[in-house]
Amino acid sequence: MSKVKLAEGVYWVGAIDWNLRHCGAYGAPRGTTYNSYLVIGDNVALIDGVKSGFEDEMLERVREIIDPAKIDFLVSNHVEPDHAGGLPKIMGVLKNAKLVVSKSGKEPLNRNYHNDWGAMTVKTGDELSLGKKTLRFIEAPMLHWPETMFTYLKEDGILFSNDAFGQHIASSGRFDDEVGPEAMDEALRLLAVVVSPYLMIAKNKVKEIETSGLKINMIAPAHGIIWRLPSKIIDAYRRWTSGEGKKKITVVYDSMWGSTDAMAREITRGISDEGVEVKLFNMRVSDLSEIMKEIIDSRLILVGSPTLNRDIFPTIGYFLTFLRGAKLPNKKGAVFGSFGWGGGANRRLKEELKLAGVDVLEEELSLKYSPTSEELKRCCEFGKTIARKISG
Ligand code: FEO
Repeated sequence: MSKVKLAEGVYWVGAIDWNLRHCGAYGAPRGTTYNSYLVIGDNVALIDGVKSGFEDEMLERVREIIDPAKIDFLVSNHVEPDHAGGLPKIMGVLKNAKLVVSKSGKEPLNRNYHNDWGAMTVKTGDELSLGKKTLRFIEAPMLHWPETMFTYLKEDGILFSNDAFGQHIASSGRFDDEVGPEAMDEALRLLAVVVSPYLMIAKNKVKEIETSGLKINMIAPAHGIIWRLPSKIIDAYRRWTSGEGKKKITVVYDSMWGSTDAMAREITRGISDEGVEVKLFNMRVSDLSEIMKEIIDSRLILVGSPTLNRDIFPTIGYFLTFLRGAKLPNKKGAVFGSFGWGGGANRRLKEELKLAGVDVLEEELSLKYSPTSEELKRCCEFGKTIARKISG
């Protein structure tokens, strides 16, 4: 695929990573892109770099338009390695470019890449004139690193938003109207695993953009497709960051010998019988990013674990560790599980959910050894009781 034109003098010149399946600690089942954009005024700026290993693919697209040595500025909106990892090689080719980062970006840039490029620092409201084009900078701290910023191209109304509004998806189409609904699905996954600890910050940022008076014709993130209809993703972000959730319950559990599994299935049946949407995940075979994607728009999280050594099962501990970091607002929770000669998992589950900021219900279910048919009926009733907590 060649470069792609966004507007007069504005091009996508990024790289496509078809084979990525994990980004950092999380699943990225559909691959990703590392989006760089070339903005040509009287001076020329490159917005964002690419991950190490993708520099040549990106530079080849730049060369379709201009000699990289003629680039005057490289704006690094975010210095995490999937965007800035390629900078050492790229800066070696862009011999005349000045690096531009936010004030808090300079130290992580230099220390991550062991290089002092003498970057120029900018803050919210600062502008960089390229002659016919003007870049305006908007700091976006903790979305999702302290140094993250957005760059706004005034003349064309394009917001280069880095991770925010992005999605891990590799595709031949570059725009939202050229790919299917999976782009929106992946935007939710990225928000759920990357941005979720900073959901309120994201919510306020969306509000700030909406009330800023800036005309936004296009949102061009650093991963995935470009939103030609920005309201689509802004509306979705407003919904996802509200923390309200749909009338939906996500059940996450693991099982040692099948008892907690049998409980989980009957509980799920009870929830469903009450007309509440439910998603069931066995941690042993489920991807964490998929679970978090469902939890973001659920009102209640139901967690089940067998007791192991008076504690919770290790896979559930892994899930709860992430949930604790995510600190999602406005979530209710409840617990269930089985045990043999001594319990303890339910108590620990409740402690962990509370630490994650979840409003834990009094109702819980704990069964000894393998559940009888009568006890399975109790599971179904328990599911109905829990469902009614969010369906009123
Ligand atoms: Fe896509 Fe936070 O890096």
